[in-house]
Amino acid sequence: MNTAPLQPGKLRLGVNIDHVATIRNARGGDHPDPVRAAEIVAAVGADGITAHLREDRRHIRDEDIARIQEATGLPLNLEMAATGEMLAIALRHRPHAACIVPEKREERTTEGGLDAAGQFELLAPMVARLSDAGIRVSLFIGPEVRQLEAAMRLQVPVVEFHTGEYAHAAGEQRAVELKRIADMAALAARNGIEPHAGHGLTYDNVQPIAAIPQIAELNIGHYLIGEAVFVGLEAAVRQMRALMDEAR
Ligand code: PXP
Repeated sequence: MNTAPLQPGKLRLGVNIDHVATIRNARGGDHPDPVRAAEIVAAVGADGITAHLREDRRHIRDEDIARIQEATGLPLNLEMAATGEMLAIALRHRPHAACIVPEKREERTTEGGLDAAGQFELLAPMVARLSDAGIRVSLFIGPEVRQLEAAMRLQVPVVEFHTGEYAHAAGEQRAVELKRIADMAALAARNGIEPHAGHGLTYDNVQPIAAIPQIAELNIGHYLIGEAVFVGLEAAVRQMRALMDEAR
């Protein structure tokens, strides 16, 4: 497993492969396999694989965790809700990193950051158990002082700032959201916490976030998998066409 320290200046890319699993799960079979996606992602120079084992298993399934870990040498960042079930699974698989995220059954995606301040008592023993197992714990929080201060008290090595509000903001509000993230990234770094960021990042909005010097890693999923459909559809249709023509 690659646990090498960060190269100065290099912004890591973690690719979230959940939505390959979403497509697979739509038919309940094995195709497309998120492990194959992880292998491709590793081959083209991504720095990590991110996957969210949700309570309802709508993305990856339990057995995917070990398969992903075995398939590539890349560090796995397991996104997990702060529940006893997920803690046990994380301790069993010992991913390189665990990112604690808020999770609501009815939400379409992780809609907001974790209330690390409000859930301090729940999170403290969980962070300790994960850290004791050698797992690098991260908290997925909004870019807010109160949440960052809670992360400091919880002594996590990493926070991931939720970039959803930035990504969805238009006009001048986007600059306001960007500044909030930049300010919180600087504050995190000054306090010895490595800032990451993710959610809703696209070709159009990634660069201002990527330019924030303290941010060490971006985790990007939905847009990349969506774009991959367009980049790959031509080759897939051509291959099907060729197979059909060959059969006649
Ligand atoms: N980081 C975390 C903690 C997430 O939960 C997610 C997915 O919700 C992402 C990054 C990736 O977001 P997206 O799929 O919008 O790129």
